[in-house]
Amino acid sequence: MAADSAVNLGVLISGFGSNLQAIIDAIERRELAARIKLVVSNRADAAGLERARRHGIDALVTEHRKFPSREAFDHELVAALKARGVELVILAGFMRLLSPVMVRAFPNRIMNMHPALLPAFPGLNVQQAAIDHGARFSGCTVFFVSEGLDDGPIIIQAAVPVYPDDREQQLSDRILAQEHRIYPRAIQLYQQGRLEVRGRKVYVKDEGSGAIDEALVNPPLRDH
Ligand code: GRF
Repeated sequence: MAADSAVNLGVLISGFGSNLQAIIDAIERRELAARIKLVVSNRADAAGLERARRHGIDALVTEHRKFPSREAFDHELVAALKARGVELVILAGFMRLLSPVMVRAFPNRIMNMHPALLPAFPGLNVQQAAIDHGARFSGCTVFFVSEGLDDGPIIIQAAVPVYPDDREQQLSDRILAQEHRIYPRAIQLYQQGRLEVRGRKVYVKDEGSGAIDEALVNPPLRDH
C-alpha cells in the first residue's frame, strides 16, 4: 500500500460509536487519510449506525443471533468487508469475540481498542476492576487482534490517573477521551505503512524520539 493513498476501513460496532465518531472526525479534518467503506453493527439499535448514516457512510446491520455459529456470522462479516475492498478492520465497541475465520481473513489487519493498559485487565468491566484494585494509572490500548482474548500486539497506549474517589463513569470518561485521540493516530500509522509486527511486538518505523508521546505519558492533572 502506498503511503500516500487513503486506507479503506471497515468499522464494526455494537453501541454508542463514539470511537467511530472520532475516526470520522479525524478523516473530515484531514488528519487521517482513510475512507470508511462500511460500518457493520451486530445490533439494530446501535446509536453508531445513525452516526454513520449522518455522514453518508454505508451502514449494515448483521445480527449475530440469526447465524447458527460464531464462524457462520464471521464468514458473513468477511464477505461484506471484502466485497467493499476493506483493507483494515476497526473494532469500535464491537461486543463479539471474533473467531479464527475473521482473524485469519485479516491477519494483523484488525485493530481493537481496550479501555485498560493491556496486558493488565483484559476482558470486560475493566474500568471498575482498575478502581477495585487500587491501580494508580489505567488507560487504553490499541492492538492488533489475534486469536487470544485482548492478547494481540500493542500499537499505542495512553495512560490516565486513577483517583482514590473515582467512580466507574468518571474513569471511563477520562479513558474515552484518550481513546478518541489515539485510535485515529494508530490508523494513520498503519496508513503510512509504519507499523511492523515482529512476534508479539509492534515496531513503529521512523518514530525516533517520538516513540513515546509525552502528552500521553504525562496526563493532565485532576480533571474533576
Ligand atoms: C470503549 O470503551 C472501548 O474501549 C471499548 O468499547 C467502548 C466503545 O465505546 N472497546 P464507543 O461505542 O466507541 O463509544
